[in-house]
Amino acid sequence: MASHPRPEPLRHFASDNYAGICPEAWAAMAEANADHAPGYGDDRWTAEAADLVRQVFETDCEVFFVFNGTAANSLALASLCQSYHSIVCHEVAHVETDECGAPEFFSNGTKVLTVAGPHGKIVPQQIDHMVEKREDVHYPKPRVVSVTEATELGTLYTPDELKALWARTKSHGLRLHMDGARFGNAVAALGVSPKEITWQAGVDVLCLGGTKAGMAVGEAVVFFDRALAAEFDYRCKQAGQLASKMRFLAAPLVGMLRGGAWLTHARHANEMAALLEREVRAVPGVEVLHPRQVNSVFVKLPGGAAAALRAMGWRFYDFIGGGSRLMCAWDTTPGDVARFAADLAAAAGR
Ligand SMILES: Cc1ncc(COP(=O)(O)O)c(C=O)c1O
Repeated sequence: MASHPRPEPLRHFASDNYAGICPEAWAAMAEANADHAPGYGDDRWTAEAADLVRQVFETDCEVFFVFNGTAANSLALASLCQSYHSIVCHEVAHVETDECGAPEFFSNGTKVLTVAGPHGKIVPQQIDHMVEKREDVHYPKPRVVSVTEATELGTLYTPDELKALWARTKSHGLRLHMDGARFGNAVAALGVSPKEITWQAGVDVLCLGGTKAGMAVGEAVVFFDRALAAEFDYRCKQAGQLASKMRFLAAPLVGMLRGGAWLTHARHANEMAALLEREVRAVPGVEVLHPRQVNSVFVKLPGGAAAALRAMGWRFYDFIGGGSRLMCAWDTTPGDVARFAADLAAAAGR
């Protein structure tokens, strides 16, 4: 009998970046693809996207659109600092580990200083420590604290935890930046309104993720302190981040925000990760490494299991935070989870 090769999984647990474009973003792109529209953000889609962001955050913030998260973070951080300043972030923060030095580059040398902390989170005392340990001119003066919500390890800061960080940043005269690549997952999981974990918790600038939420490309930089946005448009242009056909960055965000799809999809991805967590916990020898709070599960797999899973065609990362990261997206199905869990059980039982 002829043997049939096992089909590759259609959906992986490597990253929410692996997922395609969600229907709402896709439909809005198609809608925006009619006729001509002014370039460089002077179109009705860009205006509508910015207005929707203001509605969602219930405040009159200043909004810019860039292509990706690295640009959003590094340009936002650069706008808060002088070159002799420093940015305090967690040691696993994307701005430190995965942006190829872009925050330092775009700020002309502002140094990123890292702190440790359980499950990817900064604790307030570390801010005091980083500011107070040196006050001389030889040390790059801390100017910004950067937090990620949800964190790179799939955990969450509560509104109170953010307010505690804010109290420390305020007392030291620092600014607060938030990397919100998975902000929707955080809002959905915490059951809060977006303002409660941003400007009401002292966040000056938020980088609001679109790509991982279901867009092809595009992130919004949201300045809650409008004064900080002065000349940010020049910064974007100089960095090659001013899209001439801006409507195609803005329209998908309109599609995501206007009917609440950004939260529906984020909630679904979180639920799939909760299901995945239950399934993997049932496999002997698998250890869950961090509290599962959003759309990722970090696991330590028994010896040889990761290689066996990869040989079956599965893809996932194991360079972030130790262990293996299993990430769900807006399009992950219960069937995907069941299939992965069955393969994991087989791989672990070898
Ligand atoms: C926490 C975090 N911030 C930002 C980003 C955005 O990165 P990119 O420049 O690839 O869009 C990512 C993507 O992996 C991320 O995980």
